Amino acid sequence: MTQQASEFIGSIPEYYDKYLGPILFADFAEDLAKRLTQSELESVLELAAGTGIVSRIIRDALTGDCELVVTDLNEPMLDVAKKKFLGHERVTCRQADALALPIGDSSFDRVVCQFGVMFFPDKLKSYQEVLRVLKPGGRYLFSVWDTWVYNPFAQLAHEAVAKYFPENPPGFYKVPFGYRDAEKIKSSLKDAGFSNVSHELVKFDMEIPSVSDFARGLVFGNPLYDEIMNRKGDPAEIHLSVAKSIEANLGNNMPLQAIVFTAEKD
Ligand SMILES: C[S@@+](CC[C@H](N)C(=O)[O-])C[C@H]1O[C@@H](n2cnc3c(N)ncnc32)[C@H](O)[C@@H]1O
Repeated sequence: MTQQASEFIGSIPEYYDKYLGPILFADFAEDLAKRLTQSELESVLELAAGTGIVSRIIRDALTGDCELVVTDLNEPMLDVAKKKFLGHERVTCRQADALALPIGDSSFDRVVCQFGVMFFPDKLKSYQEVLRVLKPGGRYLFSVWDTWVYNPFAQLAHEAVAKYFPENPPGFYKVPFGYRDAEKIKSSLKDAGFSNVSHELVKFDMEIPSVSDFARGLVFGNPLYDEIMNRKGDPAEIHLSVAKSIEANLGNNMPLQAIVFTAEKD
């Protein structure tokens, strides 16, 4: 994985939040929030929180006295997240690498992470960090995307962009859809020291209200944008091409599929 795949910076966070958020992330965030709030909690830590799409939904679902700490590697993503909260809401936003959390041992009842683990360069290390900061009896809930087969928009976007750079196609779309072997992930969680590890598929049939807006998010709203710029590509032209491919192959509806994992600290 290139380091660039983790760099959600510059203009990317605003496009991500506006054009990808409602289509790719909000419904999965609602699902995660329901799983999270099945018991009463005092403290929740979110990793790779991005622009706060999950954070906003879980803050509304948690009881008012529960503390929520929202973290991400990239400050520019958190800058968008911060605007979603009022001072009295018991939310702290802070920059943190999931591989080296600036947090004391046994601090949280739950750790949650939506579509972030795929970007962590050392997954086992990230699981060990989560185990360390969870209280005994605490749980880690996180999701990863399933493959392109179940999320065809990603393959369509990848292929539409690759045509412009046949010698050196951008690799971004391989990263978030390339870490999904549930048995291997569960084995890695057990190696880190977790018990009661389980997984579940979560699927949505998603409407795409504006294919052009969705394609704008797919080109401008993640680090693919920087890969295009570094190759001296024209993102406006590529946006039209991605929109054309989505329109022709999916129309205004598409399947989305993720895998949600739960793991417990003894
Ligand atoms: C696809 S976004 C998911 C954001 C958010 N969880 C959501 O569902 O909208 C992936 C996020 O992972 C973050 N990220 C990448 N590497 C990270 C790391 N090592 N530690 C913490 N966050 C990281 C990126 O900055 C980005 O915000």
